[in-house]
Amino acid sequence: MIREAQESDLEEVFNLIHSSFSNKAESDLVKQLISDEDVLINLVVESSDTIIGNIVVSKVTMEPDTGLFCGGVAPLSVLAVHQSSGVGSQLMKEAIKKSKEMGMDALFLLGDPNYYKRFGFNASNLESDYSVEHFQELELTKDCLANLKSKVTYANAFLSL
Ligand SMILES: CC(C)(COP(=O)(O)OP(=O)(O)OC[C@H]1O[C@@H](n2cnc3c(N)ncnc32)[C@H](O)[C@@H]1OP(=O)(O)O)[C@@H](O)C(=O)NCCC(=O)NCCS
Repeated sequence: MIREAQESDLEEVFNLIHSSFSNKAESDLVKQLISDEDVLINLVVESSDTIIGNIVVSKVTMEPDTGLFCGGVAPLSVLAVHQSSGVGSQLMKEAIKKSKEMGMDALFLLGDPNYYKRFGFNASNLESDYSVEHFQELELTKDCLANLKSKVTYANAFLSL
């Protein structure tokens, strides 16, 4: 079952993120995003009373401001024993759907293009602090990012990653 994360889920979610990435940087990132109130979407997949997957979308800013409402997807985590069974895809599709419902214009993420292209992400031409090849975008409003010259910046919590 896929649903919004509740306050009472958070400890389990942090442990899941820690275990999926084999280090604490990403779980500390999500803790900080939550305490900074920069989280837009926080979804979990639950199976037999255990949280087996999580995805977070947080606020992104553009400089100069474009007036667009955009989110950064990170992290996406699935418990090792449940990987490659579609849980990550389920979370990503639901996050995209929810982002559209919330009126977001675009999503950005940093990751392996081979995985994320299946959801429609492409390499982004926008400036960011990240590598050109791995920094990707998905327009939810058609052509909203075309010809933009702004720099994309993730929420402050990412500065300590
Ligand atoms: C990346 C991750 C979220 C994918 O979740 P998942 O539930 O295993 O993914 P799905 O079952 O939806 O998709 C599986 C497919 O993705 C591929 N895949 C998984 N991780 C990948 C990666 N890092 N790069 C490229 N492809 C990847 C698998 O080979 C598989 O391919 P197939 O469909 O051709 O068989 C999960 O492997 C994970 O939590 N990894 C550790 C944390 C991480 O690296 N997160 C992503 C960075 S933010």
